[in-house]
Amino acid sequence: MEVIIQPTKDSAASLVARIIAKEIRAHTNLVLGLATGKTMELVYRHLVRMHREEKLDFSLCRTFNLDEYVGLPPTDAHSYRHYMEEHFFRHVNIDPRNTHLPNGLATDLDEECRRYEAAIERSGGIDLQLLGIGKAGHVGFNEPLSALRSRTRVKALAPTTLKQNAPAFGGEDKMPRRAITMGVGTIIEARRCILLATGDSKADVVEQAVEGPITSMVTATALQLHPRCTVIVDEEAGGKLKEKEYYRWIFENEPEWEQYR
Ligand code: GLP
Repeated sequence: MEVIIQPTKDSAASLVARIIAKEIRAHTNLVLGLATGKTMELVYRHLVRMHREEKLDFSLCRTFNLDEYVGLPPTDAHSYRHYMEEHFFRHVNIDPRNTHLPNGLATDLDEECRRYEAAIERSGGIDLQLLGIGKAGHVGFNEPLSALRSRTRVKALAPTTLKQNAPAFGGEDKMPRRAITMGVGTIIEARRCILLATGDSKADVVEQAVEGPITSMVTATALQLHPRCTVIVDEEAGGKLKEKEYYRWIFENEPEWEQYR
């Protein structure tokens, strides 16, 4: 795992967008794993700007999102499909047929989960998976005690997650209690993972995810097993990391990061 600390949430999001852009320019038919949440909005803003100003081309790119709420139609303003359309898809030249999210309205949810896994496999697997982190330490909706080898499935949302996401719905009682999410096993099969966390509300969970022991109580810790995972944080989210000086040295000195400094 590599940790990169950036001064602000905007510079952290911009770095993530520049890494994605570089991969897309090198492999036009890249398979991108996408994430939702407040943190990612800035990343999509940068990607949309790069599309407009630098002609970043998404026409052959294929995307798979991490998760979707059960029971919400794509037209619902709270669905992740709606989020993706609003923040990203409708602003760039991506082919809608190449954008995938689990269908939270499927009559057979287990079958939908199997179909989603099969679609990822048919695409050749995810090249670059973008991840946020919930306050419960989850990636996707892999709540505490999710098996570290789990696959795409329906997951009941943990109380911390319900509390974190309820404001957007106008209260916990108005939000779905279950979601379809890629499993931890599905996520760590991606060829490269990038986790972005910003703001001091994430400082504790980032410290646990990066420097804590691997545990299904904090599913982001499974990323420690991944051979190519970069965690990008701003100063606030990185505030509780013990090895900050080491991480700073890496960004300032390792040749891989020269092009991004
Ligand atoms: C939701 C999503 C996660 C995301 C998390 C963080 O729970 N399922 O994939 O990482 O929110 O959201 P935010 O960026 O709003 O803190």
